[in-house]
Amino acid sequence: MTTNKEKETKIFNAMKNHQEFLIRICTLDDIDAVIEVNERELPEDYPYFFYKNILDDFPESFLVAQNTYGKIVAYIMWRVEKAPSINSLKYVNKAHLVSIAVAEGYRRRGIAKSLLSNSMKAIKKYKIHEYVLEVRVSNYTAIRLYEKFDYKIESIKKNYYRDGENAYFMILNV
Ligand SMILES: CC(C)(COP(=O)(O)OP(=O)(O)OC[C@H]1O[C@@H](n2cnc3c(N)ncnc32)[C@H](O)[C@@H]1OP(=O)(O)O)[C@@H](O)C(=O)NCCC(=O)NCCS
Repeated sequence: MTTNKEKETKIFNAMKNHQEFLIRICTLDDIDAVIEVNERELPEDYPYFFYKNILDDFPESFLVAQNTYGKIVAYIMWRVEKAPSINSLKYVNKAHLVSIAVAEGYRRRGIAKSLLSNSMKAIKKYKIHEYVLEVRVSNYTAIRLYEKFDYKIESIKKNYYRDGENAYFMILNV
């Protein structure tokens, strides 16, 4: 069995360019800190059990970034869904980005890029055909981030958010 410590080291070694931050797999003990980042940075809040279920089901792609003091400053989480492919009627596994946020004081340092690239690699083990996500049409910063990874806007989901804002549905074929 792989221990958390081993998983942590594995991911950290892939992060040579960002040694001021450790990118590692989330643990149960991190969930409260992840919720804190989420509640500060995003209007979409989730109950504790929601995070725990994602951690139980898809732990490899639930990553956090911690600073040199061990404080959690960012996270990313995904889930896998079976849904019809965008190109055919065949059901395929899609990796659905549930949430990503970086605490305001830690932005523009490549943390989101590292979280995305490491978690996208990790979730591939589920034989993913497509990566999919929703993003507020006004969230220029996040849209730019996803475009950097070659995600394309597939459609608009009207009134997707609780406050009525539309979402872009973005996809990336594996
Ligand atoms: C979107 C977010 C996750 C980006 O995090 P980050 O760690 O600052 O991003 P990075 O430093 O890795 O930057 C990645 C790319 O995103 C884009 N980007 C990030 N901040 C940007 C800004 N202020 N203006 C324009 N583009 C920006 C750039 O393309 C950047 O690449 P570059 O630095 O090579 O130009 C962060 O702004 C955030 O947490 N926002 C609030 C939560 C949120 O909106 N989550 C997404 C919900 S769908």
